[in-house]
Amino acid sequence: MGTYNIPEIARNVFSVGSKDWNRRMFDSLIPLPEGTSYNSYLVKGEKKTALIDTVNPGFEEELEVKINMVSDLKKLDYLIMNHAEPDHANAIQFILEKAPDALFVTTEKGVKMARLYHKLPDSRIKTIAEGDSLDLGGKTLRFIEAPWLHWPETMFTYLPEDKVLFPCDFFGAHTAHGTYDEDIEEIIPLAKRYYGEIMMPFGKMGDRALEKIKGLDIETIAPSHGPVYKNPKRIMDQYDKWTAGKTENKALIVYVSMWGSTREMVRTIAETLLKEGVDVRMYDLAVSDIGDVARELVDSRAIILGTPTVLAGMHPLALYGTYLVKALKPPARYGVVLGSFGWGGGALRQAGDILTPSNMEVVGTLQVKGRAKDEDLKKIEEIGRQLAQKMKT
Ligand SMILES: Cc1cc2nc3c(=O)[nH]c(=O)nc-3n(C[C@H](O)[C@H](O)[C@H](O)COP(=O)(O)O)c2cc1C
Ligand SMILES: [Fe+2]
Ligand SMILES: [Fe+2]
Repeated sequence: MGTYNIPEIARNVFSVGSKDWNRRMFDSLIPLPEGTSYNSYLVKGEKKTALIDTVNPGFEEELEVKINMVSDLKKLDYLIMNHAEPDHANAIQFILEKAPDALFVTTEKGVKMARLYHKLPDSRIKTIAEGDSLDLGGKTLRFIEAPWLHWPETMFTYLPEDKVLFPCDFFGAHTAHGTYDEDIEEIIPLAKRYYGEIMMPFGKMGDRALEKIKGLDIETIAPSHGPVYKNPKRIMDQYDKWTAGKTENKALIVYVSMWGSTREMVRTIAETLLKEGVDVRMYDLAVSDIGDVARELVDSRAIILGTPTVLAGMHPLALYGTYLVKALKPPARYGVVLGSFGWGGGALRQAGDILTPSNMEVVGTLQVKGRAKDEDLKKIEEIGRQLAQKMKT
């Protein structure tokens, strides 16, 4: 059986999920510099026991062992599903087979989504809705519908006696490090990166969910990835800002350059913006971690895209970056597109096609043939000054 660390995050509430220290990619898209965790929580009442969410494929046996170290899986009464994505729901079938009397508990939408990915025994489904609760004996599980964070069926579970909120992916962070938020110095940048990648496109729904939980007395937030927050205000205050789309006087520059012409153009606007007091973050898409870009998108007020023309369009990496930026729906208000071409051009037009319609005001664009001349760089400085002016207001 070996040794397992099973943190008791509140009285008789155990964290029985797994750390995936060496996972380096999520959704075949997002790099994970610190791995991640799939948190699953066992809540033991005086009469009944419930498991909230499960684990990623490959971690079922570890989950079973951990549950049996603090309880008896065979006697589990409820399996609560906050979210149907396989990183949390893949062990549903496994758990329901090992726990023959356990009921599977989720919303109607949850059942529908779960059926797409997992086998559910019809006779053991208990459908719940907003405000419903389950009495475990001295512990109550109350359900809060919080749809579209980031799938249609997402919900939260709240344990009022111990003031614990289980919001699944919401408030999550991809890291295997630590147990509690205070264990990780860099927790907010990690949570912000996660927010940018996963939650930002659903900012409005996040705002709604925050409103819903404002009235709750919350001492602990136990998400499904990353550490448990003993200081819930720490993350809730950040989410308040992020979901409201509050931006900083910060410009994010993402670019690609094969021979340095576009690089010289974006360097010029970066230096101009810095001179004007704007905080600048610059990423060469050929060597950057897209998660860092997602993190900066959360509160950047302006986005500057630099791309040379390749085969009559944008450089493929810039195309990918631009598509991703648009899909993530960042709150940035201003945009600039710069780039170099050799003969016919085409990158600028393609960037325009992708970026419009969007809420961003395009403050300036410039496409130059070959290396930027002094007069081109002067134009870029002028665009930079205009942008800095707009960003102040
Ligand atoms: C693989 C490749 C394909 C290119 N395709 C085009 C093109 O279709 N149209 C064009 O105007 N320039 C094209 N160019 C020229 C570049 O756009 C030009 O060299 C530009 O100045 C490069 O900017 P950079 O130094 O920022 O990479 C191509 C260059 C390369 C290397
Ligand atoms: Fe998810
Ligand atoms: Fe997840």
